[in-house]
Amino acid sequence: MKIIAGNWKMNGTRAALENMLHALRDIVTNNRVILCVPFTMLGARSENVALGAQDVSTHDHGAFTGEVSAPMIADTGAKYVIVGHSERRMYHGETNDIVRQKAAAAIASGLTPIICVGETMDEKQAGKTMAIIESGVRESVPTDARNVIVAYEPRWAIGAGLTPTATEIAAAHTLIANTLADMGLDGTPVLYGASVKGANAAEIMSIAHVDGVLVGGASLKPDDFIPIITSVK
Ligand code: PGA
Repeated sequence: MKIIAGNWKMNGTRAALENMLHALRDIVTNNRVILCVPFTMLGARSENVALGAQDVSTHDHGAFTGEVSAPMIADTGAKYVIVGHSERRMYHGETNDIVRQKAAAAIASGLTPIICVGETMDEKQAGKTMAIIESGVRESVPTDARNVIVAYEPRWAIGAGLTPTATEIAAAHTLIANTLADMGLDGTPVLYGASVKGANAAEIMSIAHVDGVLVGGASLKPDDFIPIITSVK
């Protein structure tokens, strides 16, 4: 069983989501399928696909115009929320500290946070990949977390049609699994994300400690997303 999570980012409509859920209704798979969609599309119903949000406030309620809280996301029936995605870190200045607070808020409301970590191109070129990944996990994942998912997303590869080598992915995921175990969180699923598509999904998910994928662009259309879901048992 793998976890196949889509991240629609700021794309789609409620009609497009209905179309996707309809297309996914009869797929035969043991994998857990999640779609993380814009807030406006939460509340859609599906028997076999869980919905998630893409960000959450650190606060529960109050005078925070434009924010959406974890209890509000849970109230829609959504089960997951992505926190610390590369684009939130890049465009909204989110740090590991903020990401950990968001993850904690999600957990407190019964949501499963999908906590993203990964290195930029500058960090990769400076030889800091492993250090950034390890500090990302140690500082972004709440230590008392039980129900969390971690996603390794090499930031330079997102939306770029680039992927690290299988050896690089294996090294990153082994480090993440070991770090989580050291934090008392062994067994936490670790997803790989960045330029996953039907043609590379099975190979990526055959790598040790890759428990699934987080898919951006290729999750938007059923013809692209279904082959990823059915690429592994
Ligand atoms: P991509 O995005 O699959 O389009 O590279 C992945 C992500 O940002 O989660």
